[in-house]
Amino acid sequence: MAAPDEKISAELKKLRAEVNRHNRLYYVDDNPAISDAEYDRLFDRLLEIERRFPELVTPESPSQRVGAPVSKKFETVQHRVQMLSLSKVTSAEEFAQFDRRVKEGLETSGEIDYITEPKLDGLAVELVYEHGLFVLGSTRGDGKAGENITVNLRTLPTIPLRLSEETAKRYPLLEVRGEVIMKKSAFARLNETLAADNLPPLANPRNAAAGSLRQLDSSVTASRPLLFYAYGISDTNLASLDRHQSVMALLHREGFLINDFIASTTGAEGAETAFESLLAARQRLDYEIDGMVVKVDRFHQQTILGQISRAPRWAVAWKFAAETAQTVVEEIEFSVGRTGVITPVARLEPVRVSGVTVTHASLHNEDELRRLDVRPGDTVTVRRAGDVIPEVVEVDKDRRAASTKAAKFPVECPSCHGALTRTEGEAAHRCLNPACPAQLEGRLFHFASKPGFDIEGLGGKLARQLIDNELVKNPADLFFLTKEQLLPLDLMADKKAQNLLDAIDHSRATPLPRLIYALGIPGVGEAAAGLLAAQFETFERFETASIEELTAIDGIGPNIAVGIGDFFANEGNQSMLKRMREGGVQFPVFQSPAATGKLAGKTFVITGTLSQPRGYFKNLIEEHGGKVASAVSTKTDYLLSGADAGSKLTKAQKLGTTVIDESGLEQLLNNTND
Ligand code: IVH
Repeated sequence: MAAPDEKISAELKKLRAEVNRHNRLYYVDDNPAISDAEYDRLFDRLLEIERRFPELVTPESPSQRVGAPVSKKFETVQHRVQMLSLSKVTSAEEFAQFDRRVKEGLETSGEIDYITEPKLDGLAVELVYEHGLFVLGSTRGDGKAGENITVNLRTLPTIPLRLSEETAKRYPLLEVRGEVIMKKSAFARLNETLAADNLPPLANPRNAAAGSLRQLDSSVTASRPLLFYAYGISDTNLASLDRHQSVMALLHREGFLINDFIASTTGAEGAETAFESLLAARQRLDYEIDGMVVKVDRFHQQTILGQISRAPRWAVAWKFAAETAQTVVEEIEFSVGRTGVITPVARLEPVRVSGVTVTHASLHNEDELRRLDVRPGDTVTVRRAGDVIPEVVEVDKDRRAASTKAAKFPVECPSCHGALTRTEGEAAHRCLNPACPAQLEGRLFHFASKPGFDIEGLGGKLARQLIDNELVKNPADLFFLTKEQLLPLDLMADKKAQNLLDAIDHSRATPLPRLIYALGIPGVGEAAAGLLAAQFETFERFETASIEELTAIDGIGPNIAVGIGDFFANEGNQSMLKRMREGGVQFPVFQSPAATGKLAGKTFVITGTLSQPRGYFKNLIEEHGGKVASAVSTKTDYLLSGADAGSKLTKAQKLGTTVIDESGLEQLLNNTND
């Protein structure tokens, strides 16, 4: 075989650098620069050269991420520096105590600089880099020793195989720590694939991440969508690294994935604000977090504070409130939804879950009611995850009284007494009577809700009265109501009636996405309605779209498309839409925030330490039609810069990019015309 010449070596070097760069753009910066096909071409060329000249293969080549022999078991490895665990607090008061202890320990009355980070719910691992090369990766284990899972960790594109020369020289030994997680969406897809292969599903994203990492065959790990988020290093005595945030900046520069919600703040009050914004953001995140980690930023302060047994005194896990609680079932009721689906609901003795009082929990359908075997009088565990309707997770059968009887699913609609049907293959029982008052009430409520026509004052009680008095037979009738009709209703004074009529009048101009949502087409929630409005721009085009046009939209599957087709084919719906038009509803043309928002057409880059996590500002900018990029270029309109900004600020100044701080952003949002 021919010896590789210099040209080949140079090409290989360039290919590796390119593949690594695109890996980073794709996985870490979420900002791919080339298509998957182009990437494959680069990678295939790299493999081809390495096949021809195996002597050129090096351990840090991107080709070496997979392909290690299958091992029989994992070896145990000692951690050079113990991997600590965290003590926890669960309230602002407890956090304030932690903050007081920190101040006492440091003998200071000044406010402490803290870093706040999401507490990722995955698997802790350590990555050892010697002279810049990734040589050993292990699980946390008991903190002192873990398992050697190097071959598996090598397969994660978010783990750099080699660090920059500068870092390798400066820090010949660097031990990076962080969490391996699987995104919720990736977890759902993985379970679908497992099911298609007749394999049992995985319980949750954390188990899926742990199971995927501890595979003896690393090609299985390679096929699983795992991410490594770095959150620190083992050593706090390294040159020019005097704060946790400088470590995070270094790791980011080296290509590690750093969580968007990591922020720096001061004092207990600052930490509390960060906790609240993280809690608010939690439901929108595509990965699971179970709280916030707060760390003292300055390393010399960390050293003074030290640790007690296995937990540092300079960090704490501020956990979210428990999402489950126990209570007693008072009764099992059957509610009729706006689409006629009958849902068994457990009425509960009121109980606090995640800071909210829960009085009802869904039992989903007949199968679930049978499986759980929930009975009136039972003690049950209920769970509430964010905005999701609370549900019964489990019945405590040991505490069940002998006299209880299994609940019976009704055979007729509890509202209109019509017959119920259950379609083959479907879990739901439905009432098929379109005039069923309970369904109408649900439809009306949905129509007038905030993400729909947003008619304030049209709650459940009023909806019921309008139906019972036959003033409203479908939502379009709302636009024909008069004050004379409203005044005789219960609790309806002149002012209240006028307010309602004003709200209805105002709602005639409801924007297209909310109008589409309000119709209550099966499967069309807020997200789908937004996609449909953006795609078709006018209601007329949406109304007449073919199934092919609908399914061509990313995010609209065949079931939703058929649901939309059925909705518009239905005569009752057609006459309702006609009556809405006659009642003065405008059906406006779609206005995209990207075209009309205050920041439309503007590209931002965010850097430095801000008063809120970066994700907060990213959302704010995007909500107003702006874009957020990860690197400063000539295309950047504004650099939003906080304290301690580094290279991005220098670059922006060089390019003459406008640099603004938080109040500058506020001004942009207030000044510009919308
Ligand atoms: S720091 C002394 N930061 O929480 C510092 N840990 O009880 C110890 N975790 O098993 C870890 N997100 O896997 C740290 N941003 C974060 C974290 C985090 C999740 C996990 C970690 C560890 C446990 C600590």
